[in-house]
Amino acid sequence: MKKLKRILKWSALALVLGLFAWFQFAYWTSTNNCDALAASGGETMKAVVYCDYGAPDVLKLETLAKPVPNDEQVLIKVRAASVNPYDWHFMRGEPFIMRLGNGLRKPKNTRIGVDFSGVVEAVGKNVTQFKPGDEVFGGRTGAFAEYVVMLEKHLILKPENISFEQAGAVQIAGLTALQGLRDTGKLQAGQKVLINGASGGVGTFAVQIGKALGAHVTGVCSTRNVELVRSLGADHVIDYTKDDFTKSAERYDLILDMVGNKGLLECRRALKPDGKYVMIGGPKGRWIAPLDTVVRAFLLKPFVEQEMKFMISEINRDDLLMLRDLMQAGKVTPVIDKTYPLERTSEAVAYVETGRARGKVVITVADQQSVAQR
Ligand SMILES: NC(=O)c1ccc[n+]([C@@H]2O[C@H](COP(=O)([O-])OP(=O)(O)OC[C@H]3O[C@@H](n4cnc5c(N)ncnc54)[C@H](OP(=O)(O)O)[C@@H]3O)[C@@H](O)[C@H]2O)c1
Repeated sequence: MKKLKRILKWSALALVLGLFAWFQFAYWTSTNNCDALAASGGETMKAVVYCDYGAPDVLKLETLAKPVPNDEQVLIKVRAASVNPYDWHFMRGEPFIMRLGNGLRKPKNTRIGVDFSGVVEAVGKNVTQFKPGDEVFGGRTGAFAEYVVMLEKHLILKPENISFEQAGAVQIAGLTALQGLRDTGKLQAGQKVLINGASGGVGTFAVQIGKALGAHVTGVCSTRNVELVRSLGADHVIDYTKDDFTKSAERYDLILDMVGNKGLLECRRALKPDGKYVMIGGPKGRWIAPLDTVVRAFLLKPFVEQEMKFMISEINRDDLLMLRDLMQAGKVTPVIDKTYPLERTSEAVAYVETGRARGKVVITVADQQSVAQR
């Protein structure tokens, strides 16, 4: 028995030391392609890159090789791109747990930005749905750049009544709001939905999509944003500096939570017995937050009647087409807070990181030539 205990003890110690050594090795050998990024001959473009994790000043505007589309790809000249909290999570490598996939010490992928709009410049020979000159929007890693290439299957024609700045603000926030309300939240016409964080990037879409789905929408925001949220169609607006939605007598079919500032049990109190809580975002944390709330929701599940869920949005062409139709019909209009030129991307990301953006923050992309003339 004693011998077995000793074997187990030494095995556990060896495992811990092995893991520690592996982690040290993986951390110090974690690297990226930054040394080889600069364009060497051929056509070039400006793009934002980050070689190290850190504050917004790690974002640098560099000259890279202009991408060339293969037979299946579309080359797009970017006109606008928008900033999401997603971008600063990658820029900082926080919560740290995400570095397990993205590079422990340095980001593996040094390009940043996702949502964009622009004009098709060239297409590969097997591309059937787009031609040069088409105005499009979508999402692609590395959107903070003058050009992106991508497969046609996730690219959408821009509605004419929407500007490039607005179309470039759609993908992540619009899809998240739509999928959170309709798919995870199963929102039905006539139901009551509460949107916590109604004045932010996702929230401003969610208020409008909630109304388009026929729901009774309550938005939660601070005093300065009450009029904005009301103007988007909210039936009722709660100013969180004056009232606490978890303490009122109102009960909701669905809470779509972009803020995560209330406990799960407090939110549960504001739900109908068959209501649903859908967590989209939560408080910032360096190690695992907001994923700890996801774990708590999972543990709480067997003990409460209401559904407590977390969702991560997915790229889906049909959903992007639905967003396009809603925009075309004037039922959804992306809300733009501020715009910044590509060379001031770090300021745009820093602003979004404050958590005070009202709607979307957009980066506009001018011609390389006109930037040079400034
Ligand atoms: N799960 C997913 O797939 C997914 C997708 C997209 C985003 N997200 C996450 O969802 C969250 C929201 O994203 P976002 O793009 O909407 O962020 P955002 O645009 O940065 O949100 C900023 C807004 O949040 C509001 N806000 C801050 N504290 C609040 C509070 N206590 N109550 C109500 N509103 C408050 C701010 O209004 P005031 O200044 O007036 O307070 C501001 O308008 C982020 O955590 C993001 O990472 C998740």
